[in-house]
Amino acid sequence: MEKILDLITKEVSEAFVAAGYPGEAGRVSISNRPDLCEYQCNGSMALAKQLHTAPINVANAVVEKLVGNPAFSKAEAVMPGFINLNVNPEFITEYVRSMAKEDKFGLKAPEKALKIVIDYGGPNVAKALHVGHLRSAVIGEAVKRICRYVGHDAIGDIHMGDWGLPMGLVMTELQERKPDLCYFDENYQGEYPEEAPFTVADLEEIYPTASGKSKEDEAYKARAMEATFKLQSGVRGYRALWNKIIDVSVSDLKRNYDNLDVHFDLWNGESSVHELIPGMVQKMKDDGFAHYSEGALVVDVKEETDTKEVPPCMLLKSDGAAKYDTTDLATILDRMEKYNPDKIIYLTDKRQELYFTQVFRCAKKTGLVHDDTELIHIGFGTMNGKDGKPFKTRDGGVMRLEYLIKDINEEMLKKLIENENRGISEEEAEKTSKIIGLAAIKYGDLSNQPSKDYVFDLDRFTSFEGNTGPYILYTIVRIKSILDKFVSQGGKINAEAIKSPVNESEKELMKVLTGFQAAVTGAYEELSPNRVCAFIYDLANALNSFYHETKILTEEDADKKEGFIALINLTKNVLETCIDMLGFSAPERM
Ligand code: ARG
Repeated sequence: MEKILDLITKEVSEAFVAAGYPGEAGRVSISNRPDLCEYQCNGSMALAKQLHTAPINVANAVVEKLVGNPAFSKAEAVMPGFINLNVNPEFITEYVRSMAKEDKFGLKAPEKALKIVIDYGGPNVAKALHVGHLRSAVIGEAVKRICRYVGHDAIGDIHMGDWGLPMGLVMTELQERKPDLCYFDENYQGEYPEEAPFTVADLEEIYPTASGKSKEDEAYKARAMEATFKLQSGVRGYRALWNKIIDVSVSDLKRNYDNLDVHFDLWNGESSVHELIPGMVQKMKDDGFAHYSEGALVVDVKEETDTKEVPPCMLLKSDGAAKYDTTDLATILDRMEKYNPDKIIYLTDKRQELYFTQVFRCAKKTGLVHDDTELIHIGFGTMNGKDGKPFKTRDGGVMRLEYLIKDINEEMLKKLIENENRGISEEEAEKTSKIIGLAAIKYGDLSNQPSKDYVFDLDRFTSFEGNTGPYILYTIVRIKSILDKFVSQGGKINAEAIKSPVNESEKELMKVLTGFQAAVTGAYEELSPNRVCAFIYDLANALNSFYHETKILTEEDADKKEGFIALINLTKNVLETCIDMLGFSAPERM
């Protein structure tokens, strides 16, 4: 199906042509004066300038050709030369009815399904997930689901930090505490034990301790670097111990991401590509791209048009160790070999913007990717507390993601229980509070443009009113309960039986529904899940106005009632599809 704006544009363009003007001037947009009209065309303005005539003359001539057009209930030329349009209710009804009939509500499939790798999450093993990792996971998951819905083949890769100095630090501290572990015994020949000599809780305490010590104690740091080197060069005991760290960490990460309804196809990390590094670096040297500068091996990536300094990409430090850049480049090489993607999308804090500029330029320049492979960095803003500073715990520490989620779930549970007479059991309330809590967190994040900072406001996010996740869920639950009642009274939902609107609020609801395709494709093209949020917020508002102004279940005219039911059923399906794209779901009741 075409987008509704394209259909309307087509009608108006034809009128331009019929009046002797170029059709391109017929572009229609949603009215920015909804009090005057629903849609508008401003094409006469620019055209009149070219033709040295008054815009109103052009507009009048076009409007004359629109007379009698069944798509419009109103087409008028207004000074200085705008064309104001209202569409015929029948035109919208027909469109909405087709949405109810067609797969994906009539969303057009892309000309070519693209292969898209999405690099998000980016946790570091042996460290607890903190709120800094929330946005990458939440936005990345939504972007992935949107890409898929639109019809592309998207692969999500977690890209764990699992290979650098932090690993050496953890192992050094372990050796400090348990020097007799067989992993550290060079002469040990046997099998290594099944069970890890630590728990996740141990690891989470060990890393910060080790990191703190290394900052104060040079010798300790040197040992950690040595341990990192041993791991990277494949010393058996170090590899075995590292495997245990990965096992313990990954199962904990899986649990955490599952709770967020975030799912990765690939659990790769920096370590997954370490074997590709020597060959890649050698080739960059042989091809004349990499050269030594002050002992380090670098690739220049600055360009003449740069307005600010873009430093070279550093492949190897002067001690020969690989860097963050090097693993990202080797990961690109790996992805190209395995998936040959059309696009790779990265989600990190926007402070890594310059870094990704360097990496992308280096990948293009050295031929790791094709000229037309799109490398995209979505740099997101910071989640702040109410004080406008990066979100912290009450005593100023870094907030663990788990605790943040717990806080929100508890708040939701409180609200559900306060709302007595809902007849929900304690068990159901607990389950429901988690579902709504997740919506509160994700919607609170996704309703902002990714690049913007936002304030994490527990009270606002968990409110059932306003532009919030719970409000959207509440609307869905409201529709479900009407439909349930309808069915329990012996009604049968005929999903395609959408009828002409009986009042303004019904027409408005239909009009908002027609914007589905533009919202979803817009979210995909701009990589902005907030487009979907804005759409469902409008849709929920339109549904609730319609609900308040229309007697649905008590409507006596069976035909009208059938139409109402079909329309709210479509609204529910669209809302549910959209929240699924955003990565959350609705409960049965709330
Ligand atoms: N592990 C990194 C961090 O915590 C994020 C990784 C982002 N992805 C990437 N391909 N560099 O900062």
